[in-house]
Amino acid sequence: MKPAKITVLGSGIMGHGIAQVSAVAGHDVVLRDIKQEFLDKAQEKIRWSLDKMASKAKMTKSDADSAYARIRTETDLGASLADAEMVIEAVPEIMDLKRKVYAELDEQTRGRDMIFASNTSTLPITEIAEGLARPKKFIGIHFFNPPQLMKLVEVIPGAQTDGDVLNYTIEYVRSVGKEPVLCARDVPGFIVNRLFIPLVHEACYAMESAGLTKEAVDSAVRFRMGFPMGIFELADFTGIDVIHKATIEMHSRDDGVIRPHPTIEKLYNEKRLGQKSGEGFYPYSEQKYERVELSEELAATCDPVRLSAVLINNVAWLVENGVADIGTIEHAAKLGLGMKKPILEIMRESGRDALVRKLEELSAESAFYAPNPAISGLS
Ligand SMILES: NC(=O)c1ccc[n+]([C@@H]2O[C@H](COP(=O)([O-])OP(=O)(O)OC[C@H]3O[C@@H](n4cnc5c(N)ncnc54)[C@H](O)[C@@H]3O)[C@@H](O)[C@H]2O)c1
Repeated sequence: MKPAKITVLGSGIMGHGIAQVSAVAGHDVVLRDIKQEFLDKAQEKIRWSLDKMASKAKMTKSDADSAYARIRTETDLGASLADAEMVIEAVPEIMDLKRKVYAELDEQTRGRDMIFASNTSTLPITEIAEGLARPKKFIGIHFFNPPQLMKLVEVIPGAQTDGDVLNYTIEYVRSVGKEPVLCARDVPGFIVNRLFIPLVHEACYAMESAGLTKEAVDSAVRFRMGFPMGIFELADFTGIDVIHKATIEMHSRDDGVIRPHPTIEKLYNEKRLGQKSGEGFYPYSEQKYERVELSEELAATCDPVRLSAVLINNVAWLVENGVADIGTIEHAAKLGLGMKKPILEIMRESGRDALVRKLEELSAESAFYAPNPAISGLS
């Protein structure tokens, strides 16, 4: 893909990272936010990150400088769009705010042909597109945090998205060195969050019902299921606020997707947001990332069958509903969740029949667990 002109709306956690990876790939970027002080902060972070890459010899100092110079900041929306070919929106995950932003965008870009791509992690693309003048030009482009490091980008066409827009978006994702994964149907949570968010809640039920410690569940998730860290650790790392909001958005659209456990809302209300606030499921003594003590010995005390069963059930749901095939799901889980073990191997280790039996047994507690018939076809 030849260098394009990209406008990124929102310079927060995701927006500044998307601007950076775009500029490193040679695209000209305009980064827009509502206040100059936010943009100054974003530029500081980009400079720091580029300098770090240069110091680790991941790029030359001169390439880092050129990338930095390719990012212009702007508070005026009209000026930020002057010659944009693609707008990537990374404003907060609030439907009303996104709609307002797209209404402004439509107003400012009448008669022009640019692509609008949303970095939303949970809001349905087709639903955001309802208010748009050109829904055919609109698509989901879900980068993972931090965009500078995470390879996965879920690409989600809405019901009306043009094939050309999909192809262009995939090309753009590849151009910034990321791996696009097509989420063929616009379902709540897309692929990765559809696997991850329900598992956090399920881990709370598992801990409660078996009288286990967080560390025991987390050790099993890490050492027996092949996650890069425990599920509670991963929740703290992601942010309890992010999990709570994703839960609400996903569950309000499909109450079969998650069985919410009250702990998440409680932690959120108590402002125990994870690493970022110094406490979530675990306390953290410093702002910087800190590992929780997990071990293979502790893992041996917890059979993660309940978590594996819910994971497999959700995989089956994604396959059954034509969202992605098993290979795509495995790829997305590996890149987006850092899973070191294929999901099918988790299933083989527990035994497909044992997982189905577990789901049947749990169905007495809630219809959420009803085993998906597509489990039998997973291979
Ligand atoms: N944080 C994550 O882990 C993560 C991961 C993947 C996707 N996302 C998604 O990315 C999007 C942004 O999330 P974030 O975590 O970067 O949020 P953030 O709060 O860190 O940043 C949002 C930025 O948008 C700015 N903003 C608000 N209104 C604006 C407007 N009208 N025009 C331009 N900028 C505006 C805010 O000032 C802020 O700087 C959300 O849709 C979120 O769901 C977040």
